[in-house]
Amino acid sequence: MRVLVVHGPNLNLLGERQPEIYGKQTLAEIDASLLQEGKKLGMDVHAVQHNGEGAIIDALHAARAEYDAVVINPGAYAHYSLAIADAISSLKIPVVEVHLSNIAAREPQRRVSVTAAACKGSISGFGGRSYLMALRAVREFLEK
Ligand code: DQA
Repeated sequence: MRVLVVHGPNLNLLGERQPEIYGKQTLAEIDASLLQEGKKLGMDVHAVQHNGEGAIIDALHAARAEYDAVVINPGAYAHYSLAIADAISSLKIPVVEVHLSNIAAREPQRRVSVTAAACKGSISGFGGRSYLMALRAVREFLEK
C-alpha cells in the first residue's frame, strides 16, 4: 500500500507557528512518525508539503498513477478551495482529510471544510496524532 501525505500551506512552520493551537511537533517530526507508523502497518508512506494551491493540485493529479490513497491537510485551503475539492473529487483512490486542530470548535470561518466534503472521511483535533489515525483508517478501508 502506497500512501501520499500532502501537507498544505504554513504547515512547514509547525513547531513555531501558534503552538498553543497546532502543538509543538515540527513537520519533520510528524513525517518521521508517519514513516514509522507506515512501516508497522506495512505501508509505504511518502510526504510532501506545498504552500501553493496549484502545487497541491499537481501533487493530487500525480498521485492517481502512483499511490493507493492520499492523506491531506489542506490547511486554510480546506475552508474555501473548490479547486482542491475538485481535484480530490476527480481521484478514484480514497482521500482522507486531516486537521491538527478541531476545526469544528474554531472560528466560524474555519468550521466548514469544502475539501472534506470531497473526501472519504476526515479526522480533526488530535494534533499530530490525527495523521496517524488517518493512516490507520486508510489501511482498514483499503483492506476491506
Ligand atoms: C489546520 C486548520 C486550518 O484552519 C489552518 O488554516 C491551518 C491548519 C489544522 O491542521 O488544524 O493551517 O488545517
